[in-house]
Amino acid sequence: MRWAWAEVNLEAVAHNVRLIRDVVAPSVVWAVVKADAYGHGAVPVARAALSAGAEGLCVALVSEGIELRAAGLTAPILILSQSPSEEFDLVVAHQLTPTVYCRESIEALAQAAARAGQADYPVHLKIDTGMHRVGAAPEHGVELADAIAAHPQLELQGVFTHLALADQPDSASNGRQLALFNDVVDALIAAGHEPTLVHVANSAGALGIAASRRGLVRLGIAMYGAEPGPGVAALCTELRPALSLRAKVSFVKTVAAGEGISYGLRHVFADATTVATVPLGYADGVPRRLFDVGGEVLIGGVRRRIVGVVTMDQLMVDCGNDMVSVGDEVVLIGRQTHEALTDEIRAEEWAVRLGTIAYEILCGISRRIERHYP
Ligand SMILES: Cc1ncc(COP(=O)(O)O)c(C=O)c1O
Repeated sequence: MRWAWAEVNLEAVAHNVRLIRDVVAPSVVWAVVKADAYGHGAVPVARAALSAGAEGLCVALVSEGIELRAAGLTAPILILSQSPSEEFDLVVAHQLTPTVYCRESIEALAQAAARAGQADYPVHLKIDTGMHRVGAAPEHGVELADAIAAHPQLELQGVFTHLALADQPDSASNGRQLALFNDVVDALIAAGHEPTLVHVANSAGALGIAASRRGLVRLGIAMYGAEPGPGVAALCTELRPALSLRAKVSFVKTVAAGEGISYGLRHVFADATTVATVPLGYADGVPRRLFDVGGEVLIGGVRRRIVGVVTMDQLMVDCGNDMVSVGDEVVLIGRQTHEALTDEIRAEEWAVRLGTIAYEILCGISRRIERHYP
C-alpha cells in the first residue's frame, strides 16, 4: 500500500535471457541471482530466467542458495566464491555447488560430503588469472584438481575464472587472462581431469568477448537490462530494463521566492515554485547526493529536478508552475508516458551522475521498497 514501490518486469528478464542465449549459443546461460537478483527478487527472477532457458543459477552466499532451494528450485546453483567450511554441511544438504580454491576447503568439503553419504559431489575450481580477488594461482590448478580427484566423494565438475576488464573488450588484459586460463585448462586435461563446465564470461564477456564464452556464461547485469559499462553500451541496445522505481506525490505546496528547502536550506527558490514531495529517500536507496548531481524524476511525462538534499524517507521536486496533484505518479527509474509525453530515466543515468555503476544503484534499492511483479 506504500506510495513508493519497484516494479519488476519478469518478461523483460526473460527477453534478456533469450537474447543473450541466442548471442552466446552453443554456450549455455547460468543466471546470476546473488544479492536478491541485484535487487529484483531472487526467486521470481530465477524462475523467469530458468523458464527462458537458463540452465543454472549463481549466488554469492550459501543463504542465497538455500532461499532458492526453499522456494522449490531444483536447477544447479553455483556459489561463486569459496564458502566458510562451517557452511559445507549446509551446502551439501541443499545440493548447492561449491567453489573452491584452497586445499583446506577441499579437505573440509570432502568430509562434509562423506558425512552426507555423497559420492562424486560436484565442485568448481576457481583460478585467479589476474583479477586478484579470489581464486587459486594458475600454477596451483593441477595440484588442487588432483586433491579433488583424490576424494571419491568429490568430482571436479567445473573450472572457471573472472575477467577484471570485461567491460573494456579491447583491453590487452582480457587476452592475458584468457591465455593464462587456457593454459590451466590444457594442463588439467593433460593431467587427466575432465571438467565439463569451463567458464569465464560475465555479461560484458558474453556480449563483447567471443573467446570468453566457453561452455557457459554467468549472466548478471545484462539479464536485468542494464549495461555492464559504457565500453559495451553499443552491444546492449536490445536489452530491456527490468526494474522501475515508482512513487506517488504525497504533498504539494507553493514555496515563496527566497525560501530554501530541505536540510541545510541548500536550494533557494528564485521564484515562487510548485514543489511536490515524494515519499521515498535515502533509506530506500535514493542517494542523498542525488540532489547535488542534478538528479531528476518524471512527473506527467516531464523531467523535473530534485530540490534540496534527499532526506531519509522523502525528497522534494521542483514542478515550476505546473499543476501537480497528490497521488500523481512519479518515476525515479524507468519510463513514464503521459498523454503525448514520454521519457525514461535509467539506472545508468543515476550511475553516471553519482560516479558509480548501475549495479550499485540497483542493489542499493532497499528492502523497504516492495517489489511488484505486474
Ligand atoms: C564471479 C562472477 N561471475 C559473474 C558475475 C556476473 O557479472 P555481471 O553482472 O557483470 O554479468 C559476477 C558478478 O559480480 C561474479 O562475481
